Amino acid sequence: MRKPLVAGNWKMNGTSASNALLLGKILAQKNTFISAEVAIFPSAVYLQQVQMALQGSGLSWGTQNLSQFRQGAYTGEISAAMLKDFGCKYVLIGHSERRCLYAELDLDQNVLDNIVAEKYEMALSEGVTPILCIGETPEEHATGQTEEVVARLLDILINKNGAKALAQTVLAYEPVWAIGTGKSASPEWAQEVHSFMRERLAKHDPATAESIQILYGGSVKGDNAAPLFSMPDIDGGLVGGASLDAVEFVKICQAACS
Ligand code: PGA
Repeated sequence: MRKPLVAGNWKMNGTSASNALLLGKILAQKNTFISAEVAIFPSAVYLQQVQMALQGSGLSWGTQNLSQFRQGAYTGEISAAMLKDFGCKYVLIGHSERRCLYAELDLDQNVLDNIVAEKYEMALSEGVTPILCIGETPEEHATGQTEEVVARLLDILINKNGAKALAQTVLAYEPVWAIGTGKSASPEWAQEVHSFMRERLAKHDPATAESIQILYGGSVKGDNAAPLFSMPDIDGGLVGGASLDAVEFVKICQAACS
C-alpha cells in the first residue's frame, strides 16, 4: 500500500513573515491529514525557517533544486550534502521551470534528462529522496509524444542505476501545459500516463513499480484534488500555486487521505 504524498512547491514566493503565517495555518490543521505525507519546498533562503517550523511536526521539507556536483566552485548552487545538513527529506529535480531555463542554453531534452539523472544520483548518495519531475510540453502533447517523453527519462534512470534504485525515489508526472495554467489534466488522462510509467518500470522490477509513489502536478486545487487522487496510480500531488494558500493546500492534503 503506497502512502499518499502531497508536496507544496512554493517556487520563488514568500517572505519570512508570510511563510511564518502560512506554516502556522497548515500546522494548525495537521491532525486533519494524518494519513498523508506532506512536504514543503520553500525557496532555499528560507530552508532554515521551514526546518525550524516543521521539525518534530511530522511534515517534511526540501529544496526545489540541487547541484549535480558534490562541492566546490559552483557559484549559486546548492549541494546534496547541504540539503542533508538542513534535514531535507526530499528534493525536487527536473522541474519544467528549471528545464525551460536550461533550454535557453540550447540543451536538448536528452542532455537535460542526463543532468536530471546526475542530480538524482547525487541526492541518493546523501540519502535525500529525489522527486523527479517529467511531463510533455504543449507541442509534445499536441503531437502525441507524451509516452515517449516520460519513457525517455525513465529509461535513462534505469540504464544508469538499475530499476531498484528507483525504490528510493518519487516520480512526478507534470504536463507542462497544465502547470500554472488552471487547466489540470483530467483524472483519466493522468491515470493513463501514471499507469504507463508504472508498467514501464514493472518490466524491469515489478516490486519497485508497485511501491514507487507517482505524483501528479499541474493546477492541482482544493476542488480537483480528490478525483485525481482517487485514481489507482496517482499517489498524491505536486502543488504549486495552491500551496501558497493555506485553506486550499489543507484541502488538498485532506483529499489525499480519503
Ligand atoms: P501549479 O504548479 O500547481 O501552480 O500548476 C505545479 C508545479 O509547478 O509543480
